[in-house]
Amino acid sequence: MSQWRVFITRRLPDDILAPLFEHADVDVWPERLPPPYDELRRRTAAADGLLCMLTDRIDASLIAQAPRLRVISQMAVGYDNIDVAAATARGIPVGHTPGVLTESTADLAFALILAAARRLLDGVRFIERGAWQTWEPFGLLGQDVHGKTLGIVGLGRIGAATARRAHGFGMRILYTGPREKPDVAAALGATYVSFERLLAESDVVSIHCPLTPATRHLFNADAFARMKPGAILVNTARGGIVDHDALLAALRAGHLGAAGLDVTEPEPLPSDHPLMQCERVIITPHIGSATVQTRRRMAQMAVANLLAGLRGERLPHCANP
Ligand code: DGY
Repeated sequence: MSQWRVFITRRLPDDILAPLFEHADVDVWPERLPPPYDELRRRTAAADGLLCMLTDRIDASLIAQAPRLRVISQMAVGYDNIDVAAATARGIPVGHTPGVLTESTADLAFALILAAARRLLDGVRFIERGAWQTWEPFGLLGQDVHGKTLGIVGLGRIGAATARRAHGFGMRILYTGPREKPDVAAALGATYVSFERLLAESDVVSIHCPLTPATRHLFNADAFARMKPGAILVNTARGGIVDHDALLAALRAGHLGAAGLDVTEPEPLPSDHPLMQCERVIITPHIGSATVQTRRRMAQMAVANLLAGLRGERLPHCANP
């Protein structure tokens, strides 16, 4: 007899869910799109364990109306969609998946840096519209990456992995964040600076901090005005850290050179959103961790967290303070 009821908000590979099938009644949301909020509430209300995604809003009211709930396990490192304080107040552990997606997300951040600097998308579009007639001495010129300054906002795991790549590309590295990280920084020759100095001196700024009330719209009109003319902004963290209207204005004014965004707010960005039409913006659909290997590891880690919580054990990766 199954002991627990579990709700999983998206389909995941059966072999990864196998340990759960052995111990629980597993309700898997069958659609490609996430469950609507009311459905999420209804199904979570009957569950002992919830395995959710960053697209699910797990707020205080949803948690309050789930009397049996004893663990929330998110298949992502970020968990700004979950009211962790409300879960903690109920004694519910919240799991997440740090570490396993670091390198793939840093790869994508660096891909966006290169693509934005070297106008990769412009080149592809140029060919697609049949404009390629010859090699042009001064056509489709981008910016060098080597020798330029990269500003990392948040030298956590992913920020440091992006900085390692930049080091290999011969970039000078600045970083900012709540505190200095001398051990990590020393190996990269990275210098700790204020947010303002980072904006003023970086040719490329890459965002790697979590979305919190303090970082919401950290990149606003004032921040963009402080950035170097022609600078590139890359965001692989959370869309809410950037004020997209202010970004658009800075690009349209010609102050910013380009942007590479793997995350937006909302997601997806409506197809008629002006950023979607903006030539110097590359937008990818939140695919930082989207490799076969990484997504499998994330799902396995989410299952391990969920099982630990169901058993009343300490989660291997717990987000509660
Ligand atoms: C995360 O894990 O938080 C990423 O945004 C998706 O992999």
